[in-house]
This record gives sequence, C-alpha cells and structure tokens, in this order.
Amino acid sequence: MRKPIIAGNWKMNKTPSEATALVQELKPLVKEANCDVVVCVPAVDIPAVKQAVRGSKIKVGAQNVHFAASGAYTGELSAAMLKETGVDYVIIGHSERRQYFGETDATVNQRVLAAVKAGLKVILCVGEKKEEREAGYTDALVEYQTLIALTGLEPNDVKNIIIAYEPVWAIGTGLTATDEQANETIGVIRAALARKYGKAIANKVRIQYGGSMKPGNVKGLMAQPEIDGGLIGGASLKAADFAAIVNYDK
Ligand code: PGA
Repeated sequence: MRKPIIAGNWKMNKTPSEATALVQELKPLVKEANCDVVVCVPAVDIPAVKQAVRGSKIKVGAQNVHFAASGAYTGELSAAMLKETGVDYVIIGHSERRQYFGETDATVNQRVLAAVKAGLKVILCVGEKKEEREAGYTDALVEYQTLIALTGLEPNDVKNIIIAYEPVWAIGTGLTATDEQANETIGVIRAALARKYGKAIANKVRIQYGGSMKPGNVKGLMAQPEIDGGLIGGASLKAADFAAIVNYDK
C-alpha cells in the first residue's frame, strides 16, 4: 500500500507573514490527516513556514532548484541551500517552469539528480498539453518526460521521487481530467517505471494527480487505484479547501 501524499503548490503567492498566517490556520485542520501533507512555498517564505509548521505533521517543500552546486547563476538556488533551510521536498519540472522559463527535459533531469544527491525528495511534474492529448500523444509523452527526467538515477534512489501527473490543460483552468483519464495516464507512467526499474520499485512510487483538484473532485480521483495523491495549486491557498482535500477520506 502506498501512503497518499497531498502537496500544496503555492506558486508565487504569499509573503512570509501571509504564509505564517495560512499555516497557522491550516495546522489544526490537518491534525488527523492520514496522508503525508506538504506545502511547497516561495523560497523566501521557507524560514517562516518551517517555524510555523512546528508541532504539526506538515512538511515543507520548495518549488524549484538549480542543477549546479554553486557558481555564476544569478537568481538561482542550489539544492544544498534548500536542504540547509530544512525543506524536505522540491517540485521539479512544473509546466509553468517549462513554459515560461525555458526548462527542458534535459535540465529537469539535471535538477532531479542534483536534488536527490542533496537528500531532497522530488515532486517531478509531467503532463501533456491540450493539443498533444488531442493528437493522441499523451502516453508517449508522459513516458518520455518521466524516463528522461530520471536518467542516471540509481534504482535505490527512485524511492525519493514522487511523480505529479499534471495535464497542462487542467492547471488553473477549472478543467480536470476525468477520474478515469487521470488513472489511465498514471497507469502508463507506472508501467514505464516498471519496465525500467522492475515492478517492485514501480509499485512503491507515489504518483499524484494535479490540475484543478479541489474539495469537490478529490474523492473521485483518490478512489482510483493508481492515484496516490494530489498536487494542488489554487485550492492550496485557502486553508479550509486544502484541509478538505487532505481530509478527503473522512
Ligand atoms: P491548480 O494547479 O490546482 O491551480 O490547477 C496545480 C499545479 O499547477 O500544480
């Protein structure tokens, strides 16, 4: 049995003081969670959020990491820097990074390797655009994105990877993949992992769905056998909504 993991992706929202307030509101609401609970926050919010989550089971993540250990990369953050702030997770390869900041499958791979080496757990995002789904490329594309991102990773490190299947057309649009669509594509990702690493390892990898997940659709998605959690954008910015998602099984 894979333990579900629900993660919030706050994107570029909340100042440190606003972040503290949101976590304080969230804490009592997720006390009884049966899943892993993570908030992936803007880098400048990490110290405040680490402080605020004390005494709760909420873990903290970052939203991106550079692949180099250090050097002349103005504006970037290394895996060691993030690790020292106390984050446990980092999102890599989010479609917004790919779309607006020129990240490619090759640099996503480098980031994954750097993060794992530093001892971070990775939430690796993959997913197709609308026209790619319509053209029938979804399965090939998510398999390719996943396997390239993990190239060079030791089988023993696959346990540090969580995959978020996020159809780009469902992110922030209010559109969600149907429960069956999400389950089927996540099944394709798991089958690709099984071919590469064997079934035993593939069956342990947690694969989330992301894209307009909210209190109203979480139950149906989580009832699917392949779906092990969610990566939540918009709905993670409201404590009551995020808590309702975390407590989907109650
Ligand atoms: P959304 O974002 O829940 O607002 O669609 C999900 C994501 O981008 O991770």
